[in-house]
Amino acid sequence: MTEKEFIPPTTLSYPEKGAYTWEAPSNIALVKYWGKYGEQLPKNPSVSFTLSNCKTTTTLKFQKKENTEKFDFQVFLDGERAKDFEPKIAVFFERILPYLPFLKDYSFRIETHNSFPHSSGIASSASGMSALALCLLSIEKDANTNLKNDYFTQKAAFLARLGSGSATRSLQGEVVIWGEHKVIENSSNLYGIKVESSIHKNFKNYKDTVLLVDKGQKTVSSSLGHNLMIEHPYAEQRFEQAFSNTKKLLEILESGNLDKFIHLIESEALTLHAMMMTSSPYFILMQPNTLAIIHKIWQFRKEKNSKLCFTLDAGANVHLLYPAAEEAKVLDFIKNQLVAHCQKEQYICDHVGKGAKQLHFA
Ligand code: PMV
Repeated sequence: MTEKEFIPPTTLSYPEKGAYTWEAPSNIALVKYWGKYGEQLPKNPSVSFTLSNCKTTTTLKFQKKENTEKFDFQVFLDGERAKDFEPKIAVFFERILPYLPFLKDYSFRIETHNSFPHSSGIASSASGMSALALCLLSIEKDANTNLKNDYFTQKAAFLARLGSGSATRSLQGEVVIWGEHKVIENSSNLYGIKVESSIHKNFKNYKDTVLLVDKGQKTVSSSLGHNLMIEHPYAEQRFEQAFSNTKKLLEILESGNLDKFIHLIESEALTLHAMMMTSSPYFILMQPNTLAIIHKIWQFRKEKNSKLCFTLDAGANVHLLYPAAEEAKVLDFIKNQLVAHCQKEQYICDHVGKGAKQLHFA
């Protein structure tokens, strides 16, 4: 689909007021998105597991207003006004206005809650932006009963991308690909799509335990990091590698080969951080505890014949990925050896999930 197809008909008659609630999960990239162009378009395809417990629940209350020249909204996080979030939402509203032309007609109250601790270092932008996109698009759906479910999901993913790139992968589950790839039918730079090929039973209910190594604010925003790929000396090789890894990963997910999975996933995580360390300016987001955990994982894997592996996002936290059958063994390992490297011994247990859900209908 093209951008134009997401512009609604001008004849719709929108509701006077209402409220919608959606919950949307976070996701963890297996093949990483790092580098963008144009309006939030990825330089390479990325593939992610949709999560389940790490999620944002957003209620959007809306009422028509007289003055239709400006946006009017307020954001509340856990019941408290969150003015810090409002500039980012204002940019988002501006970007999506051509596709939701009613935005200036309403006063909005956005009430949001994250299931994971605030500033845990887990990005809330993916789950937050997709939950908000779904609430806003529900207003269009209210006005247009002909809107099909598939179109709704695709447009929500398209809108979420304009808030935060990785948010486009939080709508559906269990595996999502975002970014055009010639061997993947219907793949698009404009929105994430669910991977339809069969996923081997080895990956069913796959676990992701997030070790909270550093809960502080990110020292380098992901926007800045993406921009540093523009002049990066290794950018072209990296983008090519991501295209090739995307194809390889989809084959691995189908065949169930866990050794190949481990190799590809850890290489992607370290490559992402290698890009950060070799950009100009360079920066390091891993902490000494991140490295200590990685070494312990490698030792544990060797000694216990385990299929546990790690991935990283743009921060110091470590995501432990492992088959459901190894849960008891890995949780023991975490408690005995890894919590010592976590801030306040904190970690979050999650697993692969099915995507966003509507909780309240107007
Ligand atoms: O969605 P953004 O712009 O915050 O970028 C996310 C980048 C990574 O988390 C590092 C990788 C990814 O694909 O999610």
